Amino acid sequence: MPDSLATFCIEPGGAIRGRIAIPGDKSISHRAIMLGGIAEGETTVTGFLQGADTLATLGAFQQMGVPIEINGTDVRINGVGLHGLSRPAKALDLGNSGTSVRLLTGLLAGQSFDLTLTGDASLQRRPMRRVIDPLLLMGADIQSTDSGTLPVHIHGGQQLNGIEYTLPVASAQLKSCLLLAGLYAQGITKVVEPVSTRDHTERMLSAFGCSVERKDNHLSLTSGRQPVATSLHVPADFSSAAFFIVAASIVPGSDVMLENVGINPTRHALLAIMEQMGACINLQNQREQSGEPVADINVKHSELNGIHIPESLVPIAIDEFPAIMIAAAVASGTTRLTGAAELRVKESDRIEAMYQGLRALGVEAESLPDGMVIQGGGFHGGMVDSFGDHRIAMAFTIAGMLASDNITIRDCENVATSFPGFVELAHDAGMRITHV
Ligand code: S3P
Repeated sequence: MPDSLATFCIEPGGAIRGRIAIPGDKSISHRAIMLGGIAEGETTVTGFLQGADTLATLGAFQQMGVPIEINGTDVRINGVGLHGLSRPAKALDLGNSGTSVRLLTGLLAGQSFDLTLTGDASLQRRPMRRVIDPLLLMGADIQSTDSGTLPVHIHGGQQLNGIEYTLPVASAQLKSCLLLAGLYAQGITKVVEPVSTRDHTERMLSAFGCSVERKDNHLSLTSGRQPVATSLHVPADFSSAAFFIVAASIVPGSDVMLENVGINPTRHALLAIMEQMGACINLQNQREQSGEPVADINVKHSELNGIHIPESLVPIAIDEFPAIMIAAAVASGTTRLTGAAELRVKESDRIEAMYQGLRALGVEAESLPDGMVIQGGGFHGGMVDSFGDHRIAMAFTIAGMLASDNITIRDCENVATSFPGFVELAHDAGMRITHV
């Protein structure tokens, strides 16, 4: 990645206005490649996210012998069938992408060949035992480092068996890992999900003809079915739209329309949180696209107040907390976030990264083991480190619009993992952002 993309500079002022086309959903794009790769027939995908993370998934399937053609945001996948993947010539390097590595560990646990999964320094720090332990119970043979991290070695040729497993953490990556392994297991794979998490895997399995049965919080997948190719249109990523939802809410003079954004109810709790804080958000033209609900989202500036964020909303807003913490820092009063310890094991420790950045910009905050208490009051200028985390970098760009002086954000190259073209799009929407 060129150095020129590494540092963002934001001058105060501007407003977020106009119509914005946000890039495709990261979670859905990953799953489209994975299920398209093991389907029978040609799957076509439009609106695919060309981010570094989803391209890592795409590259992994090419390395396992799946013919994939990519032309901008259009992708054609010539599925090789459930048992058609071949052994990659070298370790699969999934870069910064937690979704790739967790889901692939499940999908690949039941193959006939050995392989190794690895990633960048951040991914090598992230917990893998949460997915390896239940896969071992299913009969897989997988090794990680002693601390339960990458690289992970999968020994192929194992017969997997369906198990019933209650998720010990609210994680869609873990749930999806087990459902994908379940495609290769004998019998029924049952996953009990105490708290709802994003259900893109279940929706997409159904689009490929392999429905997951759901009774309350119990999911069951019966094996023995071959996914069948389909056509998919990926909506704009709600988690990328989130930065503009928050920016337009807090910057005076803003009025924006975010087009064709996924509003899956297991993802969209940012809307409820912002509305409780007093935001002015309207969903228009609600419709369904490839089994996912989408809408155009209009956001206008309004005055916000601090709230105690309901813990029940935390798993369905898990990627949005960096942006929400920026909103909290300009809201009147105190915002309290608890029940969000998972933020400590994302691309960075997001509680620590946000705490340090907010403090560097003069915000009064208290870091908690599972969240943060933030006093509204605004930002002064200064220098913030993103710790190589795309969402921390983008969150602090919003702060720059309202700060009393310029904000510089370091280590921003990973914004390309989820939001290629962010700087240009934010600039065109009204943010005074440059990269050096
Ligand atoms: C994702 C699940 C979430 C989320 C990540 C994408 C997915 O991770 O944070 O950005 O696509 O399944 P967890 O399952 O670790 O909560």
